Amino acid sequence: MRNEGEAVSLVLASLDADFMMDLTQGLQEHPQIKVIGFAQNGSAAIDRASKMAADAVLTEYALTDITANEMAKRLAEESPGTLVFAISENITAQLVQSAKAVGVKEIFPKNGFSAKETANRIAQMVDEQRREWSEVARTHGAVEKGTGPRGQKIKTEYVTRAITQSVIMTYNIKGGVGKTTIAVNLATAIKMSPYLSGQRVVLVDFDCGGSNVRLHCGLNDNECYNRNLSIWQYVEEGRTTAADMDDLLLDGPLGIKVLPAPMSKKEAEKINNNMELCEKVLRVLKKYFGIIVIDCAPNLSPMTDVAMDHATHILLIANPEGQAVKKLSELTLLLRKDEDNPDKPDMSHLLRKMRIVLNHKQPETKWDLKPSEIAENVGVPVFAEIPYSESVLRALHDNRCKQAVEIDGGSPFAVAIKQMANDLTGAYPEAVGGERSKRGGLFGKFFKKR
Ligand SMILES: Nc1ncnc2c1ncn2[C@@H]1O[C@H](COP(=O)(O)OP(=O)(O)OP(=O)(O)O)[C@@H](O)[C@H]1O
Ligand SMILES: [Mg+2]
Repeated sequence: MRNEGEAVSLVLASLDADFMMDLTQGLQEHPQIKVIGFAQNGSAAIDRASKMAADAVLTEYALTDITANEMAKRLAEESPGTLVFAISENITAQLVQSAKAVGVKEIFPKNGFSAKETANRIAQMVDEQRREWSEVARTHGAVEKGTGPRGQKIKTEYVTRAITQSVIMTYNIKGGVGKTTIAVNLATAIKMSPYLSGQRVVLVDFDCGGSNVRLHCGLNDNECYNRNLSIWQYVEEGRTTAADMDDLLLDGPLGIKVLPAPMSKKEAEKINNNMELCEKVLRVLKKYFGIIVIDCAPNLSPMTDVAMDHATHILLIANPEGQAVKKLSELTLLLRKDEDNPDKPDMSHLLRKMRIVLNHKQPETKWDLKPSEIAENVGVPVFAEIPYSESVLRALHDNRCKQAVEIDGGSPFAVAIKQMANDLTGAYPEAVGGERSKRGGLFGKFFKKR
């Protein structure tokens, strides 16, 4: 077995030979990946992988003779240590769960497939396995290929919710309520999900006045100067490829792609009012990403209008205090139909996408408004309640670029963010009907009875 960081040998399996050629070219740009064999059906792939002792197979989920699940089971017998990765056009939580239960390491979406991200993930997981095996060899003596540790116990209950594209925006006309904090942590929690880690996630900074996403993600200023929303003026829609996304976007936490806002005030103003450009950005990103999280500015602008139009979920971030709630009530009133004023445009289709996220950016006080009061005032349901957490401040001040949700995965803050990630995208199905329904348990720590 090779050591960490050394070459990763890969067998590709697909009926489509052209696709495999393109794939090879893209994957081999990664310094570790070496494609050592092709196969157009499952039995040939298994044969090649075992004879060549490949580190991994990347296969279409469904080949003519077998699926990736069966391939994983057979390779566990015939070539233990060869990891199986799959590509699928049609990913559901059930598919991912059943595949991972039998040892498929990851399923990547075929729509908007990124060779770079896939290569990174395969190399990372092969290296992880090498590390694990060398650790075992160190403590228990030499390990022959195939006698090392197998994956941990995996639950086999299935969740049938399909993974559909989500465009989630965080919003409030009031500043400083936690829009960026929630957007960044939510994107991170989705990418941390064992079911969605293969999905492509992009975090978009539509706050041209603030451009704070880069600070939360610890991005390099120079890179943000060079690659931000401004350069999308030159993007020719219709001629973009998944590889272009790697050039146009920056790398954020855990392989999340980030599109920062412009850094100069003049550029920022130009973009903020350029509805056509904002439309183009979201149309293109929707082609390549399953999950899009947009951090919006505390204003009503053409940019916000575009985001609201494309959003599948508009998260209204509120603090339990009068000002933040009043601003939201004004907004929802503006959107509501007025029977007495037929000329007022009816924007209730936007209202239907709105949910309140009650964010405690300060420790609770006796003057805090209750969720029911907030929901009544704004006329929109409270969807999640995020507790105050010092790890939010630690994440901002630490240079390790870890998000609060990563720092302590079991903290009430992290649990609340993951719960919200699940409600939006199905990222943590174990939480549904389990701990959550028994609010006295894990979630009961902060879901107080009101
Ligand atoms: N749940 C929380 N626990 C602790 N601190 C929080 C929490 N949410 C937000 N904060 C803190 O509140 C401040 C404002 O948060 P953030 O920058 O996310 O707000 P925003 O709405 O994006 O602001 P702006 O309108 O300026 O863009 C930050 O210092 C952040 O660290
Ligand atoms: Mg912000």
